[in-house]
Amino acid sequence: AVRRLAAPDITGRKGGTPIVCLTAYTAPVAEMLDDACDLLLVGDSVGMVVHGLPNTVGVTLEMMILHGQAVMRGSKKAMVVVDMPFGSYEGAPEEAYANAARIMKETGAQAVKVESGPTVAETVAYMVKRGIPVMGHVGLRPQAVLVDGAFKAKGKARDERERILEEARMTADAGAFAIVVEGVAEGLAREITEQVSVPTIGIGASAGCDGQILVTDDMLGLFDWTPKFVRRYADLRGEITRAAQGYAEDVRARRFPGPAEIYFAKAG
Ligand code: KIV
Ligand code: NA
Repeated sequence: AVRRLAAPDITGRKGGTPIVCLTAYTAPVAEMLDDACDLLLVGDSVGMVVHGLPNTVGVTLEMMILHGQAVMRGSKKAMVVVDMPFGSYEGAPEEAYANAARIMKETGAQAVKVESGPTVAETVAYMVKRGIPVMGHVGLRPQAVLVDGAFKAKGKARDERERILEEARMTADAGAFAIVVEGVAEGLAREITEQVSVPTIGIGASAGCDGQILVTDDMLGLFDWTPKFVRRYADLRGEITRAAQGYAEDVRARRFPGPAEIYFAKAG
């Protein structure tokens, strides 16, 4: 059996060859990404890109567990990290621990991820001490969109840059094995990467990080939303639209199904 990468493998790659991460939500896509990636994140972005929610606030623990199970079934080698959804970890550390333990037990994933607000360091330490590897997430925090008003790049003002740097330091000191850095200018991404001892995984945060992550549906051109930081490696929206139109034309013209696609009764 192939040994899956785990938290110490990722932490050990600080400053080395960039760590390759993508999101995954389903078994077949996880299977296709497993070979190329070091880490698959079952992101709560699933709420937006798969379930059509306007943001990630409505994502539930049950959704994360179902998608986490699917991604574990589809992958063999990559480390699998499951996002803790909004409302499942910001309160008492005991409650966060219970929810994280449930995710770990029911999915078999190697770690959970939390968005590192100012109060989360205590919870990260509480969980890590009790055996749950935790990934942090600083900068643009999508779960705070209703406070921020929109998805906006962070760290333009100096006091905000200092706060983000401090959150990253506190998250690493609390024992996080890696930290996602989202939507910040290159200078801040480099400063965080220099000042924290664990790998930074950038999204919209320049090549100055120790690794990169993208939402798979964005980079495949499947989700109709292209922020500046996304590079499109495929146009699956175009492919699927053309396939559906081709099928529709064939059905309407009775070209599908053809002789090769039907069953014949046995002679006699
Ligand atoms: O939910 C998600 O997909 C994420 C990544 C963008 C880091 O948190
Ligand atoms: Na997320």
